[in-house]
Amino acid sequence: MARSRSSFICQNCGSVTARWQGRCDSCGEWNTIVEELTDSGVGAGPKAARAAGKPAQLVPLSGETPNAQRLASGIGELDRVTGGGFVRGSAILVGGDPGIGKSTLLLQAAAEMARHGGKVIYISGEEAIAQVRIRAERLGVADCDVKLASETNVETILATLEDAGGADLVIIDSIQTLWTDRVDSAPGTVTQVRTSAQAMTRFAKKSGAAIVLVGHVTKDGQIAGPRVVEHMVDAVLYFEGDASHTFRILRGVKNRYGATDEIGVFEMQQDGLCEVANPSALFLDQRDKGASGSAVFAGMEGTRPVLVEIQALVSPSPLGTPRRAVVGWDSSRLSMVVAVLETRCGVRIGANDIYLNVAGGLKISEPAADLAVAAALISSLTDSPLPPDAVYFGEISLSGGVRPVVHSGLRLREAAKLGFAEAFTGQAGKQEKTTDIEQHAYSSLMDLVSRIAVRGKPASAPMPEEWA
Ligand code: TYD
Ligand code: MG
Repeated sequence: MARSRSSFICQNCGSVTARWQGRCDSCGEWNTIVEELTDSGVGAGPKAARAAGKPAQLVPLSGETPNAQRLASGIGELDRVTGGGFVRGSAILVGGDPGIGKSTLLLQAAAEMARHGGKVIYISGEEAIAQVRIRAERLGVADCDVKLASETNVETILATLEDAGGADLVIIDSIQTLWTDRVDSAPGTVTQVRTSAQAMTRFAKKSGAAIVLVGHVTKDGQIAGPRVVEHMVDAVLYFEGDASHTFRILRGVKNRYGATDEIGVFEMQQDGLCEVANPSALFLDQRDKGASGSAVFAGMEGTRPVLVEIQALVSPSPLGTPRRAVVGWDSSRLSMVVAVLETRCGVRIGANDIYLNVAGGLKISEPAADLAVAAALISSLTDSPLPPDAVYFGEISLSGGVRPVVHSGLRLREAAKLGFAEAFTGQAGKQEKTTDIEQHAYSSLMDLVSRIAVRGKPASAPMPEEWA
């Protein structure tokens, strides 16, 4: 009998080391390395699938693609993120913090698809049948023809699926609970999760079913254990949100069959998740219009404009090294905007504590938010509230210039639709013509800074000499 081998595998990033160590060299995490029995190498494929040197069939690039049809889930915001529905024969990983609503979303999607005649199988490894039923009743979908099973063994699940004659959509909740007979390591370890995901992906390709795998995310935002699973599946969606807000954002981070920059917005209510068709209205709902340090950014999420409030608080720092706290934006981008304000516009802001928050728990990655951030910072520094009916967007360059950004027409139209009257933007060669909104285009950040600062009273922070 072959001696079973063991490897030391980091449960965070999946890297393999020769011996145990306290800290993973690859990802830097502590205490994540675990000894796993790996009978035939890490992530060994099933023995049955071993090719016996038989040649594969070569086919032309063009041809029939029976699997390429999409299965619309019937939930518009979900379909927007997947690019029009789940693709047959593909595997989709849905990640998110525990308790964020992954099971709720997928049960609703399963029910909606079953209602439209799809054959849906929901396999729960975390909850008992009764618990899933209680949830379905609460969501008002208990009458839908969704087949349930509570099972965690991959071989049993595959046999169940074969026995049921395949399905259109299979939901596995969650990938961390799966285990397979083919490897000896404990359930939840990297090897188990990877091998199980591989088996499920292979089943999807073979049977033409769309398979959704639910994955938990660790505190630092990675799918727990198997980052490697992300490479195996066709699409990775993250379900995010923060516990103090009711709304949740579904974001595509990988999609082999569509764009990845779309978001879907939901609101968690008593009876499940509701789609939010107009996220801007939701994000601006509780805005404090008269306060200084608040600017509305007209951003884009994929193809959709989203307006969101950016809040800044600039306060004199008692510390030698001033504090910077950023929620929802890139902190190095904040440092850049602060440096440009300081160096190019003569605003002495760097010695203050700076807090920046994107309201509503949205995460912004667009450089177009620079101008809104700068406006919020200056507004807070000089204690001058910005006009409540103005939006800001534009990218700031290191030279202190303001650059125009893409989709400015869409942003302006969305702002006008929500009742905004003014827009502060970068200077484009060709201005967008919109009648409903007054556009102030700036080519230099200095001009915008002076405009905001003259409205305010001198703040406690030091001001440039020319304004004193
Ligand atoms: P769940 O889908 O179980 O989260 P996950 O699968 O991501 O771990 O969601 C659980 C949370 O959702 C729980 O905190 C309660 C809330 N919830 C509602 O507010 N309304 C509902 O109708 C349901 C079913 C859940
Ligand atoms: Mg769950």
